[in-house]
Amino acid sequence: MIKFVVGLQWGDEGKGKLVDYLSALSDFVVRYQGGGNAGHTVIKGSKKFVLHLVPSGILHGGVKCVIGNGVVFDPGQFIKEVKGLKSRHVKIDGNIFISGQAHLVMPYHKVMDQLSELQLGKRKIGTTGLGIGPLYSDKYARTGIRVNDLFNKPLFYQRLKENLNLKNKLFQAMKIKPLSSSKIYSEYLAYTRFIRPFVTDTRRLLIDAIKSNRNILIEGAQGTMLDIDFGTYPFVTSSNSSLAGVSSGTGIPLANKRIETIGILKAYTTRVGEGPFPAENTGTLGEVLRTLGGEFGATTGRPRRCGWLDLVVARTAIELNAVSYIAMTKLDVLSHLAFLKIAVGYKYKNKLLTHFPADISVLEQCQPVYETLPGWPEDISAIKKYRDLPENARKYLAFIEKKLGVPIKMVSVGAEEKQIIHKM
Ligand code: GDP
Ligand code: IMO
Ligand code: MG
Repeated sequence: MIKFVVGLQWGDEGKGKLVDYLSALSDFVVRYQGGGNAGHTVIKGSKKFVLHLVPSGILHGGVKCVIGNGVVFDPGQFIKEVKGLKSRHVKIDGNIFISGQAHLVMPYHKVMDQLSELQLGKRKIGTTGLGIGPLYSDKYARTGIRVNDLFNKPLFYQRLKENLNLKNKLFQAMKIKPLSSSKIYSEYLAYTRFIRPFVTDTRRLLIDAIKSNRNILIEGAQGTMLDIDFGTYPFVTSSNSSLAGVSSGTGIPLANKRIETIGILKAYTTRVGEGPFPAENTGTLGEVLRTLGGEFGATTGRPRRCGWLDLVVARTAIELNAVSYIAMTKLDVLSHLAFLKIAVGYKYKNKLLTHFPADISVLEQCQPVYETLPGWPEDISAIKKYRDLPENARKYLAFIEKKLGVPIKMVSVGAEEKQIIHKM
């Protein structure tokens, strides 16, 4: 069985919590895109883990965690993350597999990321600054360096020199100190010793796992609205963060395969970084949601922009990912609000749009159309059964299911593993 966990909004929907929860029934947990820009939080009792490159199944001792070929791999960041996990007694050895075909984040990618943001000025994307965009650009320009290249020292050095020749010219023109190839070379050779035992052909590993009917959980990073093709371009990340990226990022052929897609939908909407966000509330409500939901970036610490739930976004994300069912997160955050609003459509000129417009200039002229529902005063964070939820909370869920035509099968009411309600 292949399960796929994907964020239906702009990231930070609570994928880490759900992936950790579903890992109990998985043999493999696989990342297929993105890189250290992801920040997936898992709470275990009093302990908080924030995973960036390591899949969120790692806290389950027996689960094999795969970093697929579509991931952009920063060895320095990975080593730091692994050392941090080891120091907290998380079993690593034998449980992490890195694709040799994944591309390496190099120091110049981070410089270029920051330069590009500076150049854009007011029109900047608000990236995480971790070199994600410049690395994916190099990958498609066929100048990228792969993890496997580290094991062929002359080739690695040659690729590094070729890249730096070009990039240093740009840096010099922009009055930035050129980077030293010998320094980077020795830095990366030191990384090579550490990562060598983890590197393998993850495509074959997964194909064999599928043949032997192992349970595979694919962990999306970012969210569908940050997808390079279908998100709010150019205010997106540089990979296909929707289902579209799964096959190319793992080598698993999805044709004729039964794949269950679990769409993670936060009970309200957040976004970090720049770009259009029709349901954003820049007033008191936005602040209230940020405070109650602890909405600060898990990777960069930036405050997240907040607003009501947007079903136009969700509807489009459901289509793109062929969502089987929804896991709603952070419903507890909405307790104590007198009323709740849900965006059900967008007003564009004199039309009502129900699907996300493909043209960003149209999107920028859209105003959300809201319906208002009653809130509930009760704290719901200790509730275990769906029928014990306040009537208005059940009404909120039923309204969403009806409008989206997809069942909500799980409701998360707190950050901890046990704070989850199964709705039959
Ligand atoms: P991810 O990137 O999708 O994994 O999400 P993040 O970890 O960046 O952000 C989600 C935040 O919400 C984390 O701090 C989680 O611990 C927390 N969280 C997850 N589910 C719930 C929930 O149902 N209720 C509350 N209150 N917090 C949650
Ligand atoms: P998880 O997996 C939320 C956003 C950045 C920026 C844009 C491009 O934790 O949900 P990048 O560094 O990728 O080039 O930045 O994408 N972004 C995220 N927002 N959650 C994430 O990951 C994100 N990863 C990138 O803020 O707007
Ligand atoms: Mg996150």
